[in-house]
Amino acid sequence: MSPESRPSSVPDLLAMKAAGRRIVMLTCYDALFARLLDGPDIDILLVGDSVNQVLAGRDSTLSATLDQMIYHASAVRRGAKALLFVDLPFLTYQVSVEEAIRNAGRVMQETGAHGVKLEGGAAMGSTIDALVARGIPVMGHLGLTPQSVNTLGGYRVQGRADDAATRLLDDARAVEEAGACALVLELVPADLARRITESVRIPTIGIGAGVHCDGQVLVLHDMLGLNDAFQPKFLRRYAELAAEVRRAAHDYAADVRSGRYPDDAHSFS
Ligand code: KIV
Repeated sequence: MSPESRPSSVPDLLAMKAAGRRIVMLTCYDALFARLLDGPDIDILLVGDSVNQVLAGRDSTLSATLDQMIYHASAVRRGAKALLFVDLPFLTYQVSVEEAIRNAGRVMQETGAHGVKLEGGAAMGSTIDALVARGIPVMGHLGLTPQSVNTLGGYRVQGRADDAATRLLDDARAVEEAGACALVLELVPADLARRITESVRIPTIGIGAGVHCDGQVLVLHDMLGLNDAFQPKFLRRYAELAAEVRRAAHDYAADVRSGRYPDDAHSFS
């Protein structure tokens, strides 16, 4: 892997951490955005189960299905060659190791993804180990794990108390030990994310976890400002597309109602 090129395989992620190169990940759910994002800027596309909230309008990720994830991941694969990870949705990997292998295997076979992401720490160790042993790269996810929103009591920062921080550190080491290739840290204090990042060899990819992670991930639609009702503290918007969409719809409606559209240039003789 050359120093500037984006990663083309999962082991490149470890090399990036070793070389001190920050990893840039974005969520993506469709072929159109995948085509726009495919290029030197974005290292990893993640088909997150956040699609269930962002596009399907549900209030959590819990009802996302494997077929839904496969549908979106296949579309992203058609639009981009980038390294692609896909979230395993709730209850597709927690019931048994066998089910996890079958479901992760479907994702790999039917979408062409490079790996899957799953939530949880030490409790998921044997599942991560079994998947990796069968050739399925696994990205872990700790901190605020949205599939556990009901036991966590909401979408809030994790690991603030000393014992919770120690548990997260232990979980991160367990996920690494089990063979994960990278680890998402969501909504954890920056100093704890730094300690975790320093104590594992696999790259950490933060969202709401401060600057010390080895990489960052954001939900594409949030960073584009398409959801202007959502402004958590960690989110920096790089565009304000919600306002643009409303303006375009307003101008189109005004043109249709006034007869300015279609004009001769947009009509067939
Ligand atoms: O589902 C998702 O989009 C995610 C990212 C926020 C990391 O898990």
